[in-house]
Amino acid sequence: MSVAIRLARVEDIDEMQALINRYAAEDRMLERSRDFLLEHLRDFVVAEDASGFLGCCSLAVLTPDLAEVRSLAVLPEQSGRGIGRHLVLACVSEARRLGLRRVFALTLVPEFFERCGFVLTSLGRLPEKSASECPVCPKRFACDEHAMLLHLDGTIPEPLGSSEPVGYTRLFLGVEPGGQSPR
Ligand SMILES: CC(C)(COP(=O)(O)OP(=O)(O)OC[C@H]1O[C@@H](n2cnc3c(N)ncnc32)[C@H](O)[C@@H]1OP(=O)(O)O)[C@@H](O)C(=O)NCCC(=O)NCCS
Repeated sequence: MSVAIRLARVEDIDEMQALINRYAAEDRMLERSRDFLLEHLRDFVVAEDASGFLGCCSLAVLTPDLAEVRSLAVLPEQSGRGIGRHLVLACVSEARRLGLRRVFALTLVPEFFERCGFVLTSLGRLPEKSASECPVCPKRFACDEHAMLLHLDGTIPEPLGSSEPVGYTRLFLGVEPGGQSPR
C-alpha cells in the first residue's frame, strides 16, 4: 500500500494525540495537549495509506536560520516501512522551501536521524533552543536526548568533540541525567 504525506487537518488531531501520548507514557517523547496540537496544526504533516493514519511529524521554525523537527511518531505496527524517514524528509523539504539553513531534532533515536542524513551535535551549539525552551522543559533535570543537526546547504556540521557534552542536563546543569538537581 503506498504511503502519502500531507498537511495535517483538524480531523487528524485525535489520532496524532493518541499516538504521541502513547509514546509519551513510555517516556519516549514529550506529551502534547489537544490545545497545543491545534495551535501548532499548521506545523504538522501526517502519513496515511488506504488503511488511514500512520504517523505524524512537525517542523517548528525557531529563528530565520533554524527549525526543529518535533513530535515525530509512527504507529508501532507500521514501523520499518520508511514512514518515519518520509515524514522527516517532508519537514526538511519544507524547511528548505522556507529558506532556512539548519534543521535539528532532539531525540532518543539518534541512529534513525543519522539514517535521514543528520549528524550528532551538542545542544550547546544550539543556544536558540537551549536558552529558550530547555530551561522550562519537564525533562530538564533528566535530559537524555541527543541533538541531531542537518545543514541544508550540504555542508557537514563540525563533528562533536570527544569530551563535549551532548544533552541539556550535563551541559548546563553539570549533573548526570536523572541525578540530583542543583539547589
Ligand atoms: C523512530 C521512528 C519515528 C522510526 O519510524 P519508522 O517508520 O519505523 O522508521 P523508517 O522505517 O523510516 O526507518 C528509516 C531508517 O532508520 C532506521 N531506524 C528506524 N528506527 C530505528 C531505531 N529505533 N534505531 C535505529 N535505527 C532505526 C531503519 O532501520 C531505517 O534504516 P535504513 O536507512 O537502513 O533503511 C518510530 O519508531 C517511532 O515513532 N518511535 C517512537 C517515537 C519516537 O522515538 N519518535 C522520535 C522522537 S524525536
